[in-house]
Amino acid sequence: MNTSVDFCGKIFKNPVITASGTFGSGQEYSQFVDLNKLGGVVTKGVANVPWEGNPTPRVAEVYGGMLNAVGLQNPGIETFCNRDIPFLQKYDTNIIVNVCGHTKQEYLDVVERLQQEDVDILEINISCPNVTAGGLSFGQDPKGVEEITKAIKKIAKQPVVMKLTPNVTDIKEIAKAAEAGGADGISLINTLTGMKIDINRRSFVLANKTGGMSGPAIHPIAVRMVYEASHAVNIPVLGMGGIMNADDAIEMILAGASLVSIGTANFVDPTTTVKVVEGIEEYMRKYNVSDIKELVGAVR
Ligand SMILES: Cc1cc2nc3c(=O)[nH]c(=O)nc-3n(C[C@H](O)[C@H](O)[C@H](O)COP(=O)(O)O)c2cc1C
Repeated sequence: MNTSVDFCGKIFKNPVITASGTFGSGQEYSQFVDLNKLGGVVTKGVANVPWEGNPTPRVAEVYGGMLNAVGLQNPGIETFCNRDIPFLQKYDTNIIVNVCGHTKQEYLDVVERLQQEDVDILEINISCPNVTAGGLSFGQDPKGVEEITKAIKKIAKQPVVMKLTPNVTDIKEIAKAAEAGGADGISLINTLTGMKIDINRRSFVLANKTGGMSGPAIHPIAVRMVYEASHAVNIPVLGMGGIMNADDAIEMILAGASLVSIGTANFVDPTTTVKVVEGIEEYMRKYNVSDIKELVGAVR
């Protein structure tokens, strides 16, 4: 039985990786999960300088998931390179660094710095709903997506995966723009913009007023978007959004994802990633699937 996947020229021992912002760089989770068992770890978004993030409260539970407006709090690329990358290099797993910025130059500064580092893939977050400039504004305009992808591709030695927002009318156009810009792959979905109001205080639950919705309630939307995007482009797709167990992950793979990211589920059960790896193997045994590639995009 072969569960390994070639994604953008990198070999993943299985298709299960973490979702940015929900797993740190694995330090805390390594108490619960053997990181060697994962296809890869995607780190929290990192910027050129430290970001404080948004004021609190910045997370809230909602039906079928959560809202977050963390605002990409991060220690900046220098600390990240000195602290997080050496930690992850101790493990036999792929390192995918999630990159964020307010402006094109800020993204490029981070990518430039990462050229000196031994990391496998760059995931470029052009889809965060929680920062006022950059992020989402790049990701919602096909021209903007193509331009920033081109600029990053010019300097990156690692494969570049553009992370797309679901907060658009037509995901196919955005996926095509990333491909036109030279992206090696795309990942989706980031969170959907939501809002929660406290009726007793008659005010917003999140200090930021809006937040990104994640968790099982967004899964059907994510499956639909991964299906549409994977049919629109010829580059591989990393699928995520509300994957809580192996069945959800298999559904995403059948829709067209070569790899899957587990996000919010880590907060419910920190061992979800390894359980999904085991569940996929069980499914393959049950249905006599000898190679996971047979499942990718098998439902057309
Ligand atoms: C608390 C939190 C922080 C996140 N931080 C990031 C981030 O730094 N960069 C990014 O690209 N996505 C970030 N995301 C989005 C997730 O990576 C993922 O795309 C989204 O949550 C959908 O997957 P899920 O439903 O499995 O959580 C974050 C999500 C959550 C819940």
